[in-house]
Amino acid sequence: MVSLSKMMLLLSLFLTTLLPSQLKGSEGGGEEGLLPSKVHVAITNFLVHDNLTVHCKDKHNDLGAHTLKAEETYTFVFRPNFFFNVTLYFCRFVWVGASHYFDIYVQDRDKCVECH
Ligand SMILES: *[C@@H]1O[C@H](CO)[C@@H](O)[C@H](O)[C@H]1NC(C)=O
Ligand SMILES: *[C@@H]1O[C@H](CO)[C@@H](O)[C@H](O)[C@H]1NC(C)=O
Repeated sequence: MVSLSKMMLLLSLFLTTLLPSQLKGSEGGGEEGLLPSKVHVAITNFLVHDNLTVHCKDKHNDLGAHTLKAEETYTFVFRPNFFFNVTLYFCRFVWVGASHYFDIYVQDRDKCVECH
């Protein structure tokens, strides 16, 4: 039984920004353009009165739990799989009385340079 306002809250929670940063030659020593761009994921706590705990993982990495106060943003950076569009990050979101999982980054789905 999820009210409409709860749904809106949930949707605003999942407002994410995906900003692939271009390799500027400072990394990868001469491999510029060969490696896929890094993807930045930013998660902001839009719950005005509650802390939000975010715990993101992919198949190989556990990024650990991070607690965000209102308006705080948590970001993580990774390089998507170069050969196959299989990179998938999912997060558990926990706040007062609620716990939800969400696929925050799906390589096959999230092709945008800057997604909101
Ligand atoms: C949020 O976390 C901070 C720091 O851990 C704590 O001081 C504060 O009481 C928490 N706020 C709520 C609403 O739980
Ligand atoms: C992965 O996605 C890119 C961009 O949409 C596409 O050009 C490429 O063919 C895809 N690769 C595979 C292995 O599906």
